[in-house]
Amino acid sequence: MGIGRSIEENHICMTFLYVLIISLRYCTAADTLLNDSPISLTQTLVSSNQVYELGFFNPGNSTNRYLGIWFKNITAKKIIWVANRENPLSVSDNRSSLTIANDGNLRILDGDQKTLWSTNVRGQFNETIAQLTDMGNFCINDTASGSILWESFDYPGNSLLPGMKLGTKGNTQGKHLLSSWKSEDDPTPGDFVAGLSAEQPPQIFVWRNSKPTWRGGHWDGGKFIGIPEQDAGYSELVTLIPGNSREGAYLVVNLLNSFDINWLYLQPDGVFQMKSRYRVNDTWGTSWEVPLNPCDVYGACGAFAICTYTTSPICACLRGFVPQMKDEWAKGNWTRGCVRRSELFCEKNETSLASSNTKPDQFHVLRGIKLPDHHQYFPYMDTDECQQWCMGNCSCKAYAYVQGIYCMVWTEELVDIEQFSYGGQNLSLRLSYVDSDPNTNLGEKPNGPALRISLITIGVVLLLGAFVFCLYRWTSNKKGRETNLYHLNSEDGLVLRDTLQEDVLRQDSSELPIFEFKQIIAVTDHFSYKNKLGEGGFGAVYKGMLDDGQQVAVKRLSGNSGQGIEEFKNEIMLISKLQHRNLVKLLGCCVEGKERLLIYEYMPNKSLDTFLFDPKKRRQLDWATRFNIIQGIGRGLVYLHRDSCLRIIHRDLKCSNILLDEKMNPKISDFGLARSFQITQELANTRRIVGTYGYMSPEYAMGGVISEKSDVFSYGVMLLEIMSGKRNTEFIHQEQIYPLAHAWKSWKEGRGIELMDQELGGSTCVSEGLRCIHVALLCAQDLPKDRPTMTEVVSMLCSETQLPEPKEPLFTLQRLSGNSTRQEYINLCSINAVTISMIEGR
Ligand SMILES: *[C@@H]1O[C@H](CO)[C@@H](O)[C@H](O)[C@H]1NC(C)=O
Ligand SMILES: *[C@@H]1O[C@H](CO)[C@@H](O)[C@H](O)[C@H]1NC(C)=O
Ligand SMILES: *[C@@H]1O[C@H](CO)[C@@H](O)[C@H](O)[C@H]1NC(C)=O
Ligand SMILES: *[C@@H]1O[C@H](CO)[C@@H](O)[C@H](O)[C@H]1NC(C)=O
Ligand SMILES: *[C@@H]1O[C@H](CO)[C@@H](O)[C@H](O)[C@H]1NC(C)=O
Ligand SMILES: *[C@@H]1O[C@H](CO)[C@@H](O)[C@H](O)[C@H]1NC(C)=O
Ligand SMILES: *[C@@H]1O[C@H](CO)[C@@H](O)[C@H](O)[C@H]1NC(C)=O
Ligand SMILES: *[C@@H]1O[C@H](CO)[C@@H](O)[C@H](O)[C@H]1NC(C)=O
Ligand SMILES: *[C@@H]1O[C@H](CO)[C@@H](O)[C@H](O)[C@H]1NC(C)=O
Ligand SMILES: *[C@@H]1O[C@H](CO)[C@@H](O)[C@H](O)[C@H]1NC(C)=O
Repeated sequence: MGIGRSIEENHICMTFLYVLIISLRYCTAADTLLNDSPISLTQTLVSSNQVYELGFFNPGNSTNRYLGIWFKNITAKKIIWVANRENPLSVSDNRSSLTIANDGNLRILDGDQKTLWSTNVRGQFNETIAQLTDMGNFCINDTASGSILWESFDYPGNSLLPGMKLGTKGNTQGKHLLSSWKSEDDPTPGDFVAGLSAEQPPQIFVWRNSKPTWRGGHWDGGKFIGIPEQDAGYSELVTLIPGNSREGAYLVVNLLNSFDINWLYLQPDGVFQMKSRYRVNDTWGTSWEVPLNPCDVYGACGAFAICTYTTSPICACLRGFVPQMKDEWAKGNWTRGCVRRSELFCEKNETSLASSNTKPDQFHVLRGIKLPDHHQYFPYMDTDECQQWCMGNCSCKAYAYVQGIYCMVWTEELVDIEQFSYGGQNLSLRLSYVDSDPNTNLGEKPNGPALRISLITIGVVLLLGAFVFCLYRWTSNKKGRETNLYHLNSEDGLVLRDTLQEDVLRQDSSELPIFEFKQIIAVTDHFSYKNKLGEGGFGAVYKGMLDDGQQVAVKRLSGNSGQGIEEFKNEIMLISKLQHRNLVKLLGCCVEGKERLLIYEYMPNKSLDTFLFDPKKRRQLDWATRFNIIQGIGRGLVYLHRDSCLRIIHRDLKCSNILLDEKMNPKISDFGLARSFQITQELANTRRIVGTYGYMSPEYAMGGVISEKSDVFSYGVMLLEIMSGKRNTEFIHQEQIYPLAHAWKSWKEGRGIELMDQELGGSTCVSEGLRCIHVALLCAQDLPKDRPTMTEVVSMLCSETQLPEPKEPLFTLQRLSGNSTRQEYINLCSINAVTISMIEGR
């Protein structure tokens, strides 16, 4: 009997312990749902980094209940994903739950155990768990096979978080598009959808019932050209991953760090926003939104008209065009748009040609505009070829040549043209000779030209004033924010900075001057837009002038390096010790709060790409200059890889990172930054690979394996670009031919000379040129072991020794995305019995 009792006691104890364990698990709000423990109405899952929370909620004033994900700490609750958008639970039902069903699927059950929503993955899975990850992704993992059966990231609602894909319309099987809610109270899919268009290059759109309501313009490799705000600093926030034969292109929002999150959000009324969550005060706000003004609305003015927000009325016919219906137009109904005033030369038939003695059509350039919709695309045509094509085809209404995109032509109605107050592109509009002649009075507007000009001047002045004011407000706000940060961190932040400055001053004050942030603000005139030189991999670059009149380039590093001030300082100190005639010289730095700035010598000739890819300036690069540039970059790299004290891998070599001094000597910039920015960690955390598609070696692009040979690959790509004067940007290839494969094929067939830039003309020494192409192909081999070292490259370039034959590049970055390619590359490696090891610069 005694024994029986003790067994019973034991049992009770065990049960108690079990209950305790279970309840402990809920107290700490786990991030994982197991199949034996459903989530009830009052319970939630919390991601392990405490940023995201999943549970049941009531939107707005609604009495319906939904399962959703929101930011955990933020008081103004922001729902970013909803499971049962179309099948709400009723509020009176207090026994509903989220469970893992017997087949392994997630299910929302109501009080009567009826399924209201399910993930509907086909098959039988016995061992699944569901987890809310640190990225905010709710996924079902099959622990038996280790695979992911389903993830919420494939089914975005109205919010595109970092890690989600914004896909191409018509190419997503209902996934990867944003759809608005019906209203703030109702998550049912509303009228608006956002996504990319299935054209080359892709554009970003918001559609209402399949009709566009907003268009963000074409992707130029770094930004959408129809969002001028992007020029002013938003271009770093999004990345477009080019499409391939299996799936269309898609857009991702970059994660700067895991707390300060940016995301795209589509409001119920179709307003499209970039939102930001701030860790400082646990709130969220809006960084930009469209449409901002009536001109941003798609096709606001009808065909062949241009919308200018600052004029009244906002719509005007394009030069050479008149309203289709004068009365309607005068009343402000612009839907019918405009029509051509006088017949084009190319449209005239023989009889009318003979009777009127007219001249051929001309192009009239509209500046600073949002290019129209419905383009046709001719990659690789230069400006002249583009113009010739357009002139040669009477249905061509206009053409544009855009940096990063190349030639676009329009053969249909020109719709959705907007005059921007800054930024924007140039559009060449085909007009008959009478309409394009600046001396003919078009007589469209009643106002005399003088009045018009003064109105425009006033408009411009006002606008500039407003812009400067905003910028000033923005910078001073930013400053205020930083100051706040100081107070928050004053214990360590401020002290650290002071000791940093002392340290540096004590150590070697002569070597690297430390600037104060307020000095930098004065030097760059509050980082004014007009001083902005460009945007690089790690931040924006501004031109400035020091007190002594020396011109400098100030690089403002963006994002968080994730690195303490001490380590950053050490890195910069080390980097400043690197001195070589082919590296840009670091003149100083500034570290205050979150601000990290580097001050470099100023290079009047900007970067190599501004010459190489500009049809006119390209002529200045004769063979001697190019060969000097090729050798100079090579020597700079040898120094970085071998001779310097640090052994640095650049990781982001490309033409825009090669600066040219007044004598056109090349200087590598941004070297060493990758190192100080702890890229490997970023890689692991955010899946964001730092580098540029097209220049990245396959092994780096696949898995972030980095070695000096990755730089050799990029150098090879750059060498081909310098020789051909053409960009390697892979997605602009219409026929989907990988540029390196193309080059190899031409080379193999003895047509290597065709790869050379025609601008080089007679100045080339053919044998030297062919040698450069040969070396380029060797550098850009698929496998690191097949590539020479930089030391070998430099000697190959200037000696007459026999070079090995390059192998065919099999692996194409174009197909880069998805596991099959990765497998392909791994197979490729194992066939050749190579082990790729992680080699890091010391
Ligand atoms: C909820 O109702 C209140 C009062 O009627 C109203 O002020 C508020 O805007 C409503 N909120 C939403 C999200 O509809
Ligand atoms: C959430 O808020 C609490 C209290 O306001 C704070 O201590 C905690 O650090 C915050 N967590 C995150 C991840 O922001
Ligand atoms: C659920 O609601 C019923 C009546 O609506 C109530 O009697 C019951 O106590 C509630 N249960 C819980 C757990 O709140
Ligand atoms: C799942 O479990 C059932 C019975 O419990 C078994 O028959 C079946 O083979 C299992 N399926 C898998 C995929 O493990
Ligand atoms: C489930 O899959 C996600 C996505 O790959 C992963 O982040 C997570 O760690 C996995 N969870 C478990 C418990 O395996
Ligand atoms: C929270 O902080 C951000 C950035 O520092 C700022 O822009 C925003 O206005 C703040 N919001 C509130 C409500 O204080
Ligand atoms: C504007 O004109 C179009 C086409 O003629 C017509 O269908 C529409 O009703 C007009 N809109 C208004 C507001 O008058
Ligand atoms: C040529 O064009 C004129 C007007 O532009 C038209 O009147 C005439 O009929 C046309 N002739 C032919 C042969 O098409
Ligand atoms: C002119 O362009 C249109 C549209 O691309 C095309 O259909 C037509 O064949 C072209 N005509 C000529 C003569 O090239
Ligand atoms: C537009 O043309 C003007 C003058 O030709 C030129 O200065 C400007 O850079 C062009 N703008 C763009 C975006 O190409």
